Amino acid sequence: MSLPSTSTPGVRQADFRFRCIACSDLNERASPDFRCVRCGDLLEINYPQWKLSRPDAEKLKSTWRERRFSHRAVDLSGVWRFRDLLPALDGDDEAVTLSEGNTPLYELPRCGRITGVPRLLAKHQGMNPTASFKDTGMTVAATFARRTGFRWVACASTGNTSASMAAYAARGGMRGLVLVPEGKISWSKLSQALDYGAVTCQLRTDFDGCLRLLQQLVLEAPVYQLNSINPFRLEGQKTVAFELLEQLDWREPDHIIVPGGNLGNSSAIGKALLEMRELGLVSRLPRLSVIQAEGANALVRTLREAGGKRLVTVSAETRATAIRIGNPASWKKAVHVLESTGGACDEVSEIEIAQAKAEIGAEGIGCEPASAVTLAGLKKLVKQGFVKPEETVVLVLTGNVLKDPDFTIDFHRGDMFRPGTESAALSALRHPPIVLDATLDAVTRTLEQAEKSGS
Ligand code: F0G
Repeated sequence: MSLPSTSTPGVRQADFRFRCIACSDLNERASPDFRCVRCGDLLEINYPQWKLSRPDAEKLKSTWRERRFSHRAVDLSGVWRFRDLLPALDGDDEAVTLSEGNTPLYELPRCGRITGVPRLLAKHQGMNPTASFKDTGMTVAATFARRTGFRWVACASTGNTSASMAAYAARGGMRGLVLVPEGKISWSKLSQALDYGAVTCQLRTDFDGCLRLLQQLVLEAPVYQLNSINPFRLEGQKTVAFELLEQLDWREPDHIIVPGGNLGNSSAIGKALLEMRELGLVSRLPRLSVIQAEGANALVRTLREAGGKRLVTVSAETRATAIRIGNPASWKKAVHVLESTGGACDEVSEIEIAQAKAEIGAEGIGCEPASAVTLAGLKKLVKQGFVKPEETVVLVLTGNVLKDPDFTIDFHRGDMFRPGTESAALSALRHPPIVLDATLDAVTRTLEQAEKSGS
């Protein structure tokens, strides 16, 4: 079918700028480490021409709707379908895509009852091709990496970025170099990077050490950086907010809650919300809140102890290894987003994470531990009165339940917490595997016991 053309089928290179988030310096090109050449802070992609000729919001919405009926690869991508608000492709075939995005928005009735917020939804980014939200950013960044002509792309990672980057490097015909902290990422994620053919280095340091090293490497070697410091990543990650609002018929939810690690995702979703308001796609901003693990709470402490003015780093420790980060790169962007949308920032304990993860699992949905901080955080925000029972809340589930099976199995077997520390509510969520003789009698008795106990 023929699609209507819009006046902005992507923003041409001549029309977007790399803008420093600290000194506002504008540049047509970015340096290899994606840092401001004047002050060293992070860059973001900025679209000054929207001030001169604003894309028509209604036309954008109908174009995006029409593209859902198209079978072209660029339209089957839930990221490039929104390409009008992204840096432009040279041609539709240029996109390095695995049909990312297009993720489901689930109702969570059981968790809604638990939290006392009946209108509770989950945007499940774990349903992406490599099973985490990273794919939405990676398709854009890998596409522009290939355009620059680099042979090697590289990232530091707690696991999901490396899995995603390895996949998109392979699809784009590039070599991938992965730096991960040894022993601190799940085997599932490591195995993805290996299978997709990346050169995978397990470094004897933490994520923050890996990222530091990568930042040095890109200044020395012809390697293109694909961490979320790369602003193209965040442009792709913006599209989850476009897709979410489209799924909600452009009715703004009251709250969006995301986990916080390196803080790229919260920054990207916040940027999308602000751009949508600027362009008239929405009239009201949802509050975007960020939840961290207590043991990796750099943003919480940055706001609490330094009023968001300087970063308070921490020595990170949590079993939610995806967000085991103590020196988050995008903290300033995240502070800006929290301030602009009126969101909250809080922390949750290891027990609270495990309980929330099991509760999301019991909905038949499941997610990885880092994603479950959103539900655990919501419980706190409801208690504080920040989230009201009649409001609509969207949790962004960032990773698939299969990303960290060790966590799930340890939890259900009762190997995670010291005996006596589990509440009755937590114990009731455990469903340990049962080893039996292979007899009808043994299975029947187990069935009867389960029926009696209601478990
Ligand atoms: N949830 C999951 C499942 C993640 O993998 C990450 C980050 C986050 C949340 C936090 O997002 O960093 O944008 O604040 N994972 C990165 C990685 C750091 O290397 O895979 P963030």
